[in-house]
Amino acid sequence: MAASKKLIAGNWKMNMLAADGIALARAIAAQGDIPTCDLLVCPPATILRAVAEAAGGSSVAVGGQDCHEAESGAFTGDVSAAMVRDAGASHVILGHSERRHGLGESDARVCAKAVAAHAAGLTAIVCIGETEAERDAGKTLDVLSGQLAGSLPDAGVDGATTVIAYEPVWAIGTGRTPTLDEVAVAHGHIRATLAVAMGDTAADIGLLYGGSMKPGNAADLLAVPDVDGGLIGGASLDAESFLAIAAAAG
Ligand code: PGA
Repeated sequence: MAASKKLIAGNWKMNMLAADGIALARAIAAQGDIPTCDLLVCPPATILRAVAEAAGGSSVAVGGQDCHEAESGAFTGDVSAAMVRDAGASHVILGHSERRHGLGESDARVCAKAVAAHAAGLTAIVCIGETEAERDAGKTLDVLSGQLAGSLPDAGVDGATTVIAYEPVWAIGTGRTPTLDEVAVAHGHIRATLAVAMGDTAADIGLLYGGSMKPGNAADLLAVPDVDGGLIGGASLDAESFLAIAAAAG
């Protein structure tokens, strides 16, 4: 296991105006320290600073949902890694399937973004995962290896700078999850692939499971070997369910 504490990360996606996001961050922060896990919330870019301020002084960390790979320039609508950091974030989600499949983000682009995130002092949460067709075709582990090889920078990847989130595309927002054995196989394969690439450092890298994690299945998913935490979408939009998942990390 990468760390003694699990990382429970909320991906708010394109939800929450300022008032609701601040209230949610405050409700989560009010829980206080949880000995068994670290908490992270990833709001939309427009309210990153407000949420970071609302969570300020608590142990809840804040992350962005994406960043551009360039330092600055003519990229209308984008935010740089330094901007995400400047707004109060310590982490940034990269290569989420809604960007890979919805917006055509390639492994190479995700890799460039990870380089930019690292340069800005952000921990990159690099998402990988197979589609249902790829799973049905028996290609899951090959897809994961390929995404790891293509999405991770050649240098600067360690337990402090990088987290991997395994999110089967077909499990995101669907209420369906892989079996615990399938999660164990995927996470074991990711750990082994990282070990081939970077040796002992692989053991320090947090591996999150994401895709329809809820209070009812979190304890089982988080107990799978090599699952070091969760990346939670829908169930992270409510303090009670997010904190119930965190409580299940014990
Ligand atoms: P979900 O989303 O928990 O709503 O399935 C997870 C994610 O997309 O990160």
